[in-house]
Amino acid sequence: MRITNILFTGRLVKELEGLLNAEEMLNGRRVRFVPDGEVSSEDLDWADAYVAFHPTANFHFGNLKWVHSLGAGVDRYMALGDRWPDEVLLTRTITSFGQKIGEYTLSYMLKELQHHDRFREQQERGEWKMVAPRALDEMKVVVFGTGEIGQELARVLAFFGVRVEGVSRSGAEKDHFCRVMSLEEIDDSCLRKADFIINTLPLTKETERLFDKRFFGRVNQAVFVNVGRGATVDHGSLLDALDSGGLKAAVLDVFEEEPLSADSPLWSHPGVTITPHISAITTPEEAVECFLETLETVESGEELRNRVDVGRGY
Ligand code: GLV
Repeated sequence: MRITNILFTGRLVKELEGLLNAEEMLNGRRVRFVPDGEVSSEDLDWADAYVAFHPTANFHFGNLKWVHSLGAGVDRYMALGDRWPDEVLLTRTITSFGQKIGEYTLSYMLKELQHHDRFREQQERGEWKMVAPRALDEMKVVVFGTGEIGQELARVLAFFGVRVEGVSRSGAEKDHFCRVMSLEEIDDSCLRKADFIINTLPLTKETERLFDKRFFGRVNQAVFVNVGRGATVDHGSLLDALDSGGLKAAVLDVFEEEPLSADSPLWSHPGVTITPHISAITTPEEAVECFLETLETVESGEELRNRVDVGRGY
């Protein structure tokens, strides 16, 4: 496929312009860098490639042959609905997201195991009381999602001796997981024994509100970490599970509505830690590297490792 007119928009557009203007690879191609709210219908008709985190409000396919997501998640593209034309290729960014999510997760695991909050409180009271830290290699973790990010997360955790089990749509075995279960075959004892449950799943029809009352009823004092998408969780049920002791704590980086609304009860619940969608931020340099690699592969017709299966939604 030959790409000539490339439209970049959205967050990072200025940074991408700075980095890509110096790139020889773009020679011979026409490029437009347009801030989100300023993309016109003519820009969309002009482009044969669209590169952004998500579609603009006035998005239409026009003459597009290729859409490249600057993030790992493509749910906002998928939300365009059945309108996705068969002939338009969709790719997504694959970069150090798994490593970053590994570090994010480890930081909250260690905070729990090393009793950071408790020792801070003791210090405030001038209290000397030994409480033994717990070790990572005693931990059982269930990771939902065994794709690029889930596998890399499992690799990081397994390096520290954590026992990592995976859950995916197919249940196919994957590197770094002791075992992988399909969504239908997750056994209760595995969930009951889990110390941490980490969601990396994309948002699809199958995963929407997957973590609901029934699910939280099956866990026992686990910490739930969500780095996937907010709409996979029923937050009312999550709060109930925190209050009833089913969940010990929740660490949430993604929300259905972002920024999280000021009146959300999640903000003030003592068992909830909120971070503003920072567990795996795409840097401009990583965005450029993955974009250029994908452009080259798209043009050479070789197999793409970051092609989205539009039917599946990820
Ligand atoms: C972040 O959530 C992304 O989709 O990259």
